[in-house]
Amino acid sequence: MTLLSQDPNWWKTATIYQIYPKSFCDSQAKGTGDIQGIISKLDYLKHLGVDAIWLTPIYQSPMIDNGYDISDYYSVNPDFGTMGDFDELLAQAHQRGIRIVMDIVVNHTSTEHHWFQSALGDKNSPYRDYYIWKDPIDGGEPNNWESKFGGNAWELDEKTGQYYLHLFAKEQADLNWENPTVREEVKRVIQFWAKKGVDGFRLDVINLISKQQDFPSDDSGDGRKYYTDGPRVHEYLREISDAVFQKYGSVTVGEMSSTTLEHCQQYSSLDQKELSMVFNFHHLKVDYPNGDKWTAADFDFIQLKQIFNTWQTGLNGKGWGALFWCNHDQPRVVSRLGNDTEYRVESAKMLGAAIHMMQGTPYVYQGEEFGMTNPGYQDLAQYRDVESTNMYDIMVSHQGVSHSDMMDILRQKSRDNSRTPMQWNATNNAGFSGGTPWLDIANNYQEVNAENAVADLNSVFYFYKRLIELRKQVPVITDGTYLDLAPEHSQVFAYLRESGNQQLVCINNFYDNPVDYTLPSNIGVSQAKCILGNYRTSQADIQCEVQQLQPYEVRILLIERNVEA
Ligand code: GLC
Repeated sequence: MTLLSQDPNWWKTATIYQIYPKSFCDSQAKGTGDIQGIISKLDYLKHLGVDAIWLTPIYQSPMIDNGYDISDYYSVNPDFGTMGDFDELLAQAHQRGIRIVMDIVVNHTSTEHHWFQSALGDKNSPYRDYYIWKDPIDGGEPNNWESKFGGNAWELDEKTGQYYLHLFAKEQADLNWENPTVREEVKRVIQFWAKKGVDGFRLDVINLISKQQDFPSDDSGDGRKYYTDGPRVHEYLREISDAVFQKYGSVTVGEMSSTTLEHCQQYSSLDQKELSMVFNFHHLKVDYPNGDKWTAADFDFIQLKQIFNTWQTGLNGKGWGALFWCNHDQPRVVSRLGNDTEYRVESAKMLGAAIHMMQGTPYVYQGEEFGMTNPGYQDLAQYRDVESTNMYDIMVSHQGVSHSDMMDILRQKSRDNSRTPMQWNATNNAGFSGGTPWLDIANNYQEVNAENAVADLNSVFYFYKRLIELRKQVPVITDGTYLDLAPEHSQVFAYLRESGNQQLVCINNFYDNPVDYTLPSNIGVSQAKCILGNYRTSQADIQCEVQQLQPYEVRILLIERNVEA
């Protein structure tokens, strides 16, 4: 018996919960989370009401990039458990009506993968052409492309004198998708997991797989224009989709790095010849002044609204987007765009509503559902993330940034901000582990934890639960068009969703001071009902064109016009 919905479009009204297994729940007191830990929390996830879990990589890996460096696609990292544990997770999740989405990392493999080990130092290896090798130019790197984690993107293979490409860490070698055998291997991997009954796949940096084959140096940038949304990417995705995704009815979400709306319309086009939906990150670059992540900066609120406007209207009727603020690469949203002290609860709810009431499929990252915050580390030694430690090295040792400025930047921008262990309760180690956690827990765990949230009907947890339910109950959330009602307002983000006889208005105050906001007169406020909010408001308040909003207040208004026979 399965509780899984049989609707092939189930993911359009679904909410997907992201688990970073290393930091979720440790069943064995070793300081790192595992699959049995996840199984023990399935009832919690069921209570929240999510439809699927996206598991970040659990495969065999040296863990240089916490599993995004895979050394064997067909086995489970023993730190997380066994294949038997995985099968049990799949069965137990399905019994509760929860689907499983696996992370597929096929832009690159770990340099410990046996393909790379065979290819390294041997031009005649059958696996040499699985990777991208180039001769030196002028005695140095083949071009000036930069690794996303800092430094040049090429590493020398001393024995053969050639360089291999790594767009990420040097331990993550890019696969050569031009080689049809590589594409066959990728299909085999995905098929293996689909056959097991896995319901879907999240495809890591999938728009980087096709590189421009003349590999030119980039006069004006880091090289990304030569491999982002590259020449054959759509062809490759259609090939994989045709061979595997469509056959197994898998839901797919592609992680699209520095992409464009036009490409995303195609990746996620409604005929589903490529993918079901896309993650793009433009809305999370509003605190990267001039595109530079590694500066401490406030966010640009007007730009944030413009980006949502472009993507919400641009994908409507053409493709499908993932809705998210948080993941394992992003700082906690309540610390980033909200207020993680005085208005933590209010701003966490407001931010949740602001994103969940848009069109797309929402993703909730572990701990977001009760307002977990950045940890505010004071000590460099507390950081573990390869990107953060690389950037510290480059910026402090080579670019003259001071230690204290860099610490400010890391406190705001490091990926470790979201990777701190899940705060389950107020006991030792936040109930995450009986051993020493691999990464320090945020100091606020005695107050901010899942147990407290579940015990309090006014918590962020129940607000998220309601957002998840509303998507299933109110069709305009899934189907409606999108209109920004106040694009120039310096403090309020208000948008209208409309379809059939329903209008939904989501009004958000993004700041910590009260504000008045006047709704346009064509919105039928006299019939409006507030279906969710984070402050108590009277019906009279709602039926007035002027909305007086408290700090970080959100109101979701539903207007159902009477349809005359
Ligand atoms: C994606 C992952 C990130 C990883 C990178 C390289 O962006 O989300 O965690 O480091 O790809 O695989």
